Amino acid sequence: MADLDDLREGADFGLGISRENQCFHVKGAENLPWGMKDRLSRIFNPKTGKAVMLAFDHGFIMGPTSGLERIDLNIVPLIEYADCLMCTRGILQSTIPANTTKPICLRSDAGTSILTDLNDNVLIDIEDAIRMNVSAMAVMLAIGDDAHEAKTVANLYKAVDKASRYNIPVMGVTAVGKQMARDARYFGLASRICAENGATIVKTYYCEGFEKVAAACPVPVVIAGGKKLPEKEALELCYNAINDGAAGVDMGRNVFQSTSPVAMIQAVHAVVHQGITPDQGYELFCDLAK
Ligand code: R5P
Repeated sequence: MADLDDLREGADFGLGISRENQCFHVKGAENLPWGMKDRLSRIFNPKTGKAVMLAFDHGFIMGPTSGLERIDLNIVPLIEYADCLMCTRGILQSTIPANTTKPICLRSDAGTSILTDLNDNVLIDIEDAIRMNVSAMAVMLAIGDDAHEAKTVANLYKAVDKASRYNIPVMGVTAVGKQMARDARYFGLASRICAENGATIVKTYYCEGFEKVAAACPVPVVIAGGKKLPEKEALELCYNAINDGAAGVDMGRNVFQSTSPVAMIQAVHAVVHQGITPDQGYELFCDLAK
């Protein structure tokens, strides 16, 4: 049991000191088996170590939200520019062409909607994930939520236990409850808990002090984009996150709700993989959007 009366916050994150003996391009994956490394390499580009994951799983909670009314029209044209597709099995089976060669990060938990409180109590059967040949499974953790923390940690644990047997990576998705502060302390805690419970990728949010979140997480951290921002601000978010240690983005609304989603995903890709500045990214976006 933790000594709650003497919780000392971490202070020395070794910022700027790279990890020793990192001979694989995905953080924390050196000791994993071949199948796991192969799947991670489909998501994280071996040349840059980075990934642009396109998240369009929102409908499983929100229904046909703006930009996702017709996945065939809104998302399918973006597939060629993404490194990985994050979606639910229903959308994958019904609408994503099976001849896509892009890796799939399958949203693997469920049980809630925008109409009710969080209630994540369903975890996909591992056999279904295998049947769909996914490259990763994504499971949400509600750290700090009294009612759902234990349930969602158990979900992650079960997913890791089952997925590990088949060398399928699991991405821990840090949910932020209404009462949670969106700061480095919270995201650092939630991200580390995901990794300690066996997640091989962590998805969280960018915040001030993000470099500490990324440094203290022993596996790659990708950031969600969050609510729609003006395109230049969204590109700044990507740029800052990568500079502060993110291994990529798992972005949804800032791509599919853009005035030009095809241009936006290409600009995001260039910021993440080529390290172009937000100004250059925005110029690229404007050129491609013409
Ligand atoms: C996470 O749980 C959500 O389902 C989305 O995948 C995530 O929030 C990323 O999308 P966005 O960039 O729109 O925040």
